[in-house]
Amino acid sequence: MAWLTPTVLKLTQLLAALGAALGAAYGYVHTTDLKARQTPAHELSASYDYIVVGGGQSGLVVANRLSENPNRSVLVVEYGYFDDNPAQVEPSSSVPGTWLQKNLFNATSVPQPGLNNRLGQVYAAAVVGGGSTINGMVFDRGSAEDYDIWERFGNPSWGWEDLLSYFKKSTTFTPPRPELAREFNITWDAERAYGNGPIQANFPDWQWPTLKIQWDALKEIGMPMNVEGAAGDAWGAYWTPSAMDASYRRSYSRTGYWVPASSRKNLHLLIGHRVNEVLFNSRKRATAVTIQERDTPNDAPRITVKATREIVLCAGWLHTPHILQRSGLGPQERLEEAGIEVLVDLPGVGSNLQDHPAFTIEYQYLTDLFPNPSSLTDNATFSVWANEQWTQRRGPMSLGITNSLVTAPLVTLPSYRTILRKGYTQNVEAYLPKTYSAQQVKSFITQRNILLSSFPRLNNGVVEIIFAGKPGTWIIFMKPLSRGTALLNTTDIYAEPIIDYNTNINPVDLDIMVSAITLYRRWMSSKAMEQLTPVETFPGLNVTTNEQIIASLKNTMGSGVGHSCCTAAMAPRELSGVVAPDLTVYGVTGLSIGDLSIVPIIPATHTCATVYAIAEKAADLIKSRHIS
Ligand SMILES: Cc1cc2nc3c(=O)[nH]c(=O)nc-3n(C[C@H](O)[C@H](O)[C@H](O)COP(=O)(O)OP(=O)(O)OC[C@H]3O[C@@H](n4cnc5c(N)ncnc54)[C@H](O)[C@@H]3O)c2cc1C
Ligand SMILES: *[C@@H]1O[C@H](CO)[C@@H](O)[C@H](O)[C@H]1NC(C)=O
Ligand SMILES: *[C@@H]1O[C@H](CO)[C@@H](O)[C@H](O)[C@H]1NC(C)=O
Ligand SMILES: *[C@@H]1O[C@H](CO)[C@@H](O)[C@H](O)[C@H]1NC(C)=O
Ligand SMILES: *[C@@H]1O[C@H](CO)[C@@H](O)[C@H](O)[C@H]1NC(C)=O
Ligand SMILES: *[C@@H]1O[C@H](CO)[C@@H](O)[C@H](O)[C@H]1NC(C)=O
Ligand SMILES: *[C@@H]1O[C@H](CO)[C@@H](O)[C@H](O)[C@H]1NC(C)=O
Repeated sequence: MAWLTPTVLKLTQLLAALGAALGAAYGYVHTTDLKARQTPAHELSASYDYIVVGGGQSGLVVANRLSENPNRSVLVVEYGYFDDNPAQVEPSSSVPGTWLQKNLFNATSVPQPGLNNRLGQVYAAAVVGGGSTINGMVFDRGSAEDYDIWERFGNPSWGWEDLLSYFKKSTTFTPPRPELAREFNITWDAERAYGNGPIQANFPDWQWPTLKIQWDALKEIGMPMNVEGAAGDAWGAYWTPSAMDASYRRSYSRTGYWVPASSRKNLHLLIGHRVNEVLFNSRKRATAVTIQERDTPNDAPRITVKATREIVLCAGWLHTPHILQRSGLGPQERLEEAGIEVLVDLPGVGSNLQDHPAFTIEYQYLTDLFPNPSSLTDNATFSVWANEQWTQRRGPMSLGITNSLVTAPLVTLPSYRTILRKGYTQNVEAYLPKTYSAQQVKSFITQRNILLSSFPRLNNGVVEIIFAGKPGTWIIFMKPLSRGTALLNTTDIYAEPIIDYNTNINPVDLDIMVSAITLYRRWMSSKAMEQLTPVETFPGLNVTTNEQIIASLKNTMGSGVGHSCCTAAMAPRELSGVVAPDLTVYGVTGLSIGDLSIVPIIPATHTCATVYAIAEKAADLIKSRHIS
């Protein structure tokens, strides 16, 4: 192959060296420099200004920003441990299937009728750095419309224009090497999208040649193209970087926010411990947390640590509502059933659960270009070359999951008018969780109306197609109308919550997925694709009617791809909101939330970049109420 000839290799080496030199000049944090500093339980202070519950992705951001002021003491309590295995920062750790169970909570969902009563897979991180330590490194953002609808749902100052400054504050972008950009027409607009924050957004050193044909075919079928997805235009087809540094190592909350702050004397991190409850004084002010060593029985000894200014919950979508419920904040009936004294009746806690259900469509390209992803396993010569390249941090092994995305607006899908009409005319109540109160139903109808009015706009999408040069892929449903719950197990309040995604319960969700499969097939049968000879192997071309496609979806889809959210939603209290736009929890003082639970409506994006923006904004909001 042309690029294996000595002259071309030399050129590649030169470019890589240039890239490395640039990287050094920008002073990237190298993960070989990881600091696992922690504070043992017996060295904790009795009291801190702030306690951050959860040292996951958002918790480390909030802790870093709050401890910038040396006069403020901050304690982070994290259930997980450090993962110091160098393999965990390699691009290979991003690939689904390699996600390690030791870094995840062992929770399962109840059987899902919309998945033929299979269980939905539950992903909740349990490791320092949280989801950012284990995720797929896809590093995109939603479209402006995805955040503007949060504002329309009654949350002033949470629209795109407000959040953009926090996206920028969290991230530094480095353009791809010029030859790669030219060859693949990689486009970006760093000025509009990025700032100079701690998380590094980079393109890998490599893309598969087949990808060019996939892009051409998208253009042929009329998919809109956007130069930069991260500047508010994450719809149609666009390029997206990975959360990795210049050496293609994971750039995450630990490297970006923990390492630079870990030597601060005013910042403590306790790992391997669970926060059980938040304690309140008689004026309903949060004053302390109870803490217990993980993997000990429920009646094992507890420590109580005080917070004089604020307690910030960053325990993620599964455990932020769990801790709230154990502390007496949640749906009154459920709490009473569990024998918990009700402090504030907040029906929204643990409801409004959303994720992005995914379907795997399988194809073969009978006349694929060389090399292609299979060459790594099918062709020993190529594999040896790729491994040799990787010893110099170059070549195909630098790839994560993908750098090209389609987020298809509803109007690019077949039958979209019929789908919209069904959305407006169906009896939505019939599809909501049985636990929903009249107020929660009203809240959902408001969400539904906001969603349906944004669906016909070209400036946002409902379905994502990941494409990276491989023949088959994930088709991910981004804007579900189905809603789930993660509520207390009333017989054991320390057991994992009862998780019910209600995946595919609303028939509109399945209709949109059926249309998405039709779109995929149209893409594969375009003129540009002919040279690859695509053949669908699953669900297969004998699966044609809507009923047959729906049967395949229910048989094989998953409940989500690790983007679970929205279980302590930011919304007006009369719409079952849990937090106000300043992120404080309704009905009490001294308690706020800074993680992905606060999202009211899931954006059409992988959620990592959005978590950084939320947590940066949370830190600013908290600082602003504790100036003196
Ligand atoms: C497998 C997987 C793959 C993903 N892939 C991508 C991707 O490619 N791109 C993308 O953009 N997003 C991806 N995501 C999503 C993204 O990583 C998450 O949405 C994000 O990290 C969530 O951040 P968070 O701070 O809300 O929660 P987390 O990062 O989960 O943090 C919560 C933390 O709280 C701790 N905790 C929980 N309970 C307690 C307690 N009682 N006491 C103390 N600590 C507690 C947990 O151990 C955890 O560390 C993925 C997620 C997963 C799980
Ligand atoms: C911290 O406190 C000291 C002593 O009171 C004061 O001089 C200093 O300005 C404070 N620093 C900040 C960042 O507030
Ligand atoms: C989940 O189970 C695995 C073993 O399968 C274990 O290593 C891990 O610690 C468990 N996770 C938690 C959070 O307890
Ligand atoms: C390159 O991408 C831009 C932006 O999406 C698009 O307008 C242009 O047509 C593309 N060029 C080629 C040669 O495909
Ligand atoms: C295997 O890879 C080598 C080197 O990359 C290449 O020259 C050869 O054509 C490949 N073989 C096949 C069957 O594609
Ligand atoms: C609730 O917790 C108990 C005790 O751990 C467990 O036996 C039971 O299966 C849990 N209930 C559900 C529905 O998961
Ligand atoms: C389609 O064909 C496959 C393979 O022959 C078969 O397993 C499947 O049941 C068929 N599906 C339908 C809907 O006929």
